Amino acid sequence: MRVLHVCSEIYPLLKTGGLADVAGALPVAQLRAGLDVRVLVPGFPALRNGMLDQVLVAESGAFRLYRGVLPGTTLPVYVIDAPGLYDRPGNPYADAGHTAYPDNYRRFALLGWVAAQLAQGLDPAWRAAIVHAHDWHAGLAPAYVKAAEQAAGKRIAGTVQTVHNLAYQGNFPAQVFGELHLPSHFYAADGLEFYGMVSFLKAGLYYADKLTTVSPTYAREIQGSEQGCGFDGLLRQRAGDLAGILNGVDDTVWNPTLDPFIAHPYSLHNMAGKHQGKTALQQEAGLAVQDRAPLFCIVSRLTEQKGLHLVLDALPGIVARGGQLMVLGAGDSAFEAQLSAAAAAHPASVAVHLGYDEQLAHRLIAGADVIMVPSRFEPCGLTQLYGLKYGTLPLVRRVGGLADTVVDASLEHLDEQVASGFVFDNFDAAGIDAAVRRAFALYKRRSEWEDVQAYAMQQQFGWDAAAAQYGALYQQIAA
Ligand code: ADP
Ligand code: GLC
Repeated sequence: MRVLHVCSEIYPLLKTGGLADVAGALPVAQLRAGLDVRVLVPGFPALRNGMLDQVLVAESGAFRLYRGVLPGTTLPVYVIDAPGLYDRPGNPYADAGHTAYPDNYRRFALLGWVAAQLAQGLDPAWRAAIVHAHDWHAGLAPAYVKAAEQAAGKRIAGTVQTVHNLAYQGNFPAQVFGELHLPSHFYAADGLEFYGMVSFLKAGLYYADKLTTVSPTYAREIQGSEQGCGFDGLLRQRAGDLAGILNGVDDTVWNPTLDPFIAHPYSLHNMAGKHQGKTALQQEAGLAVQDRAPLFCIVSRLTEQKGLHLVLDALPGIVARGGQLMVLGAGDSAFEAQLSAAAAAHPASVAVHLGYDEQLAHRLIAGADVIMVPSRFEPCGLTQLYGLKYGTLPLVRRVGGLADTVVDASLEHLDEQVASGFVFDNFDAAGIDAAVRRAFALYKRRSEWEDVQAYAMQQQFGWDAAAAQYGALYQQIAA
């Protein structure tokens, strides 16, 4: 079955968050499972320059389409070369001042349009039977497929819209609709109109044959008004077409035994490297070098979603109990300033590295004892999964994919040997503090801590299970 994934970022070439990790791993797992999978991305400089063995596939006045190969894989990737739209350095969505590009609707409409063309013979050698759109950036792909099907009076391709984050919707003023070259009846409540705006994500949610999101719990949560971001009514109507398929971990990238970014690889049976990594981190960050001080870490976009003010609430308690905190993140300037101030106030216990650093992310997750992900909402979350694999116990809020992947170290879970981290419910200072205290209590009970670590490290979060679930979904809708 020929499957085209449509997305805006892909590891290892361009990444702002977990979407890139998924785009770099799920299609490769599907290739392994025998599907004929390709990916379509916009020609941002990192992608246009980074794909290997590119050949020209098609050309029009507006763009050239190349097909290359993702480095380190055999995955074929189509790249849309349209320099006027995509040849901008840095973040793919926003300028250096963090302002979204005003022509984003054009940039991502072209992505969706080319996807639909690849289901209609744009590449004479390969025609997509399934178009799988990721997030709002690809949301117009199912709409363009549907428009083509209505015009032709026949089925063209099965379509899937995957929601990685319902909070990012791609909403634009109604006036842009005329430029999208979609049938006028598509601008309607039963269509892609959303409170008087054009919504790219709603286009995907309305027109795709099947909808998925990245964990079973988030699939339920987004059908309610609290987490539905205005789409809960539509998602309830389409509940029969909506599935939650949990993300996996790419074992070739996140694996403590063969991680090239850590100086001392380790495994469940020889954890010495983890301790060496912790010492090196403490030295590098100027923290007190103490193996027995529990080291908490955060690797995150610094946004409202990620619950960082709870971390600020919990910080005095962590420091007072003799713990340490290292943060790697970039994002909202208010969070950046508050975290930096905390580091300045407690230089021996708190270190903050502002910015995006893939290698440091690996070293932190490998060297720390606990990784905190106290999110307000979390569609899946990948860093808690990386924490589990590296024996770095996740401290998370019971929400979305975090609820599906971490089991609290309560007495009964310890007794049943199913505990893998620390989970709290209430999104407030008392909630996170209770989880932090549980982490300290377990840390003192060395052998129990090691049992939980061992259990966490043996969890299976490969991509093959998700690949099989998506495969079953494609079977239902193949054209
Ligand atoms: P989200 O996609 O919402 O940001 P995920 O947990 O799914 O959250 O994925 C985040 C990904 O981005 C992980 O691979 C994580 O390691 C990475 N990441 C986040 N912030 C940084 C950073 N400042 N430096 C390096 N990697 C980061
Ligand atoms: C989004 C979500 C995150 C998820 C990632 C990959 O960015 O915020 O929870 O893990 O996509 O699906």
